[in-house]
Amino acid sequence: MVADGFKPDFALPYTDAVREKTDSLYPLVERLIPRLEWQLHAPYIAAINDLKAEKNAVILAHNYMTPEVFACVGDFRGDSLMLALEAARTDAQVIVQAGVHFMAETSKILCPEKTVLIPDMRAGCSLATSITGADVRLLKQKYPGVPVVTYVNTTADVKAETDICCTSSNAVQVVEHITKEFGTDQVILIPDQYLAKNVAAMVDVKVITWAGACEVHERFSADDIREIRAGNPDVVVLAHPECPPDVLAEADFAGSTSGMSNYVKDKQPKNVVLITECSMSDNVALENPAVNFVRPCNLCPHMKRISLPKILDALQTMTHEVLVDETIARKARKAVQRMIDLPKSPNQSVYDGVATPDSLIVEHPVEA
Ligand code: 13P
Ligand code: SF4
Repeated sequence: MVADGFKPDFALPYTDAVREKTDSLYPLVERLIPRLEWQLHAPYIAAINDLKAEKNAVILAHNYMTPEVFACVGDFRGDSLMLALEAARTDAQVIVQAGVHFMAETSKILCPEKTVLIPDMRAGCSLATSITGADVRLLKQKYPGVPVVTYVNTTADVKAETDICCTSSNAVQVVEHITKEFGTDQVILIPDQYLAKNVAAMVDVKVITWAGACEVHERFSADDIREIRAGNPDVVVLAHPECPPDVLAEADFAGSTSGMSNYVKDKQPKNVVLITECSMSDNVALENPAVNFVRPCNLCPHMKRISLPKILDALQTMTHEVLVDETIARKARKAVQRMIDLPKSPNQSVYDGVATPDSLIVEHPVEA
């Protein structure tokens, strides 16, 4: 698939040299990508892998990338936490973020001396655009002394106003840790109101959140799950914690994208449905041939902007470089690093069937 708004001048030819360089990769995706389609992807894969070596670059590929990107050019693959950890660890001089803009910013915050590229600057996120640094400053004025936990799906200026970041794989642990450190029973957990509600059901503190939502996960409903179960009685339902709480209440397990992927790897359910972005099922299915995937899903239009031709263009032209103002980056780095420095905990399930506590507060932007 060539994502919108980008037309490579010509399709690269499938030559003998390309075949030699890519034949060993085809088995990774052959259950999903027919030979004829592979011949369109392979020249880009060969050229990208050559350029990575030449430019000392690595590609960090999020679990929502399409399989030809995820399996064939991604050097590190995973959820937002794992990609941030790899960004912090890599010796490569260039990082290409096959994901969305906030992920690239997180890499730049952690590696200011490296060149961080995103293949399409428009790869955004509805959560990241839901809140600004000024909004967080107002929240801090309204709730003085209450620790601020910010989901990584935010811009650098929001992270800069934050005590500690979290991802969907460690949000419960982060909230428990920071409230204990501050000696308080309240926390500001922003900007995803659904993640906050799901975490609030698991912790013993009052949660103040923000009216943000993921445009992909908020579209799933509890009725969707009941319908899936009616048609597939033995199906195991895994959901991302950005889904509304009534969706998680119907699920068998909730966790980050890697949490769901690990669940399938470890438990090998006969039938499974992943209540999340569409490419996840493709990528997890390729690694688990014995598992049958029921396929309702929602596409993330931002993630889908990243394609092989755009990754190649990014490496050839060294665009689009992601930069973060150093004063903002310094403050944001403290919040991201504080999360990274937490002791590693096993992937948590955010589901335990408990209703959102009445004490939860959802804050909204102040009208200008
Ligand atoms: P993960 O951290 O679970 O990969 O989630 C990132 C994301 O954007 C999900 O919509
Ligand atoms: Fe943002 Fe949702 Fe897309 Fe993830 S799936 S990048 S949270 S819009």
